[in-house]
Amino acid sequence: MRVLVIGSGAREHALLLALRRDPEVEELAVAPGNAGTAIIADQYDVDITSGEAVTGLAQKIGADVVVIGPEVPLVLGVADMVRAAGIACFGPTKDAARIEGSKSFAKDVMTAAGVLTATSEIVDNPAHLDAALDRFGPSVDDPAWVVKDDGLAAGKGVVVTADRDAARAHAASLLDAGHPVLLESFLDGPEVSLFCIVDGETVVPLLPAQDFKRVGDGDTGPNTGGMGAYAPLRWLPEEVVSQIVDDVVKPVAAEMVRRGSSFSGLLYAGLAITSRGPSVVEFNCRFGDPETQSVLALLDTPLGQLLRAAATGQLAEAPPLRWRDGDAVTVVLAAENYPGRPRVGDAIVGAEADGVLHAGTARRDDGAIVSSGGRVLSVVGTGQDLAAARDAAYTLIKSIRLPGSHFRADIGLAAAEGKISL
Ligand code: GLY
Repeated sequence: MRVLVIGSGAREHALLLALRRDPEVEELAVAPGNAGTAIIADQYDVDITSGEAVTGLAQKIGADVVVIGPEVPLVLGVADMVRAAGIACFGPTKDAARIEGSKSFAKDVMTAAGVLTATSEIVDNPAHLDAALDRFGPSVDDPAWVVKDDGLAAGKGVVVTADRDAARAHAASLLDAGHPVLLESFLDGPEVSLFCIVDGETVVPLLPAQDFKRVGDGDTGPNTGGMGAYAPLRWLPEEVVSQIVDDVVKPVAAEMVRRGSSFSGLLYAGLAITSRGPSVVEFNCRFGDPETQSVLALLDTPLGQLLRAAATGQLAEAPPLRWRDGDAVTVVLAAENYPGRPRVGDAIVGAEADGVLHAGTARRDDGAIVSSGGRVLSVVGTGQDLAAARDAAYTLIKSIRLPGSHFRADIGLAAAEGKISL
């Protein structure tokens, strides 16, 4: 099987490494990739937001399956064009990708499917903003305003704050830019990312994971694309995972089929485990980053065969998933000033070690690997338990040198210390 992976982050590096372990995968290609993926796959520089460009590349290299990593090409309909050319594609149609591309669409689907989620209101007229803010925000049940961009924002469109002025300023800046705003009630409780391979009404859950979105230790500072993750979640009873599959993901998948927007690809449920049960924070239409780096490090089932089964309507016949024993921890190394405008162009020492996945990296003419983005590397450690996996990840990340870079020191710490309870 020849597989073409679309994207350039550490998530795509993790996908390529897991695909390479599949004995049926003979050739790997990636577009546009990064300095790390170039070592394990043929790399092509095409515009991944163009359906014509991606389909043309898939035809040129004779790809059997195209795997689309990021949300932007999916929301733009790149998977539709690949499929229309008769090539199997792992990733939803433009229509189904609205589950991530439009938060109001996702809320509508959840309401119709009877799925527990935060109460919300869309504001698209600045004249209605103050009254809407008055209906949300700090109260006995709700410690903060949750203000979201209704569309795609690379994880950075969300502000959670008890400061009304800050909530208002974020909402007003989104409205000024012409983006509708979603106000939501705050969901309290530990967060879970559950990735499910979905094809129509067939749902196959992967191991649950938890990610860390704020830039600083102790969940401080602004939101980022994700600073680290671990899997599995030993504090989450298996029956809660089954409850999420049965009461959240399957009803949403069935509702999408009912609407004629059948989902095929990776449906990512982000939830808070509240006192009322698992409640949806968001759905995404693709593998999450950085959770994928931890989840795939533990997957024993051949990934290429699994994704091909989903992409060709044969997921229901796929054998049960197999997992490696132990735990995995991913820690993101970010460039100076990230999530603001990152410092780039610095040489990185130690980026070629095993367990180091690349995101914002490029190869300079002199052969050096240099930083080229905000999230530069993901370091993955595995071990017999979470503490051992943390040790492995932190030993590795401390061996890397990149001027001004930073990482969180507390990825998976609360869970390793037994401090997460339901
Ligand atoms: N882990 C957050 C995301 O992928 O959106």
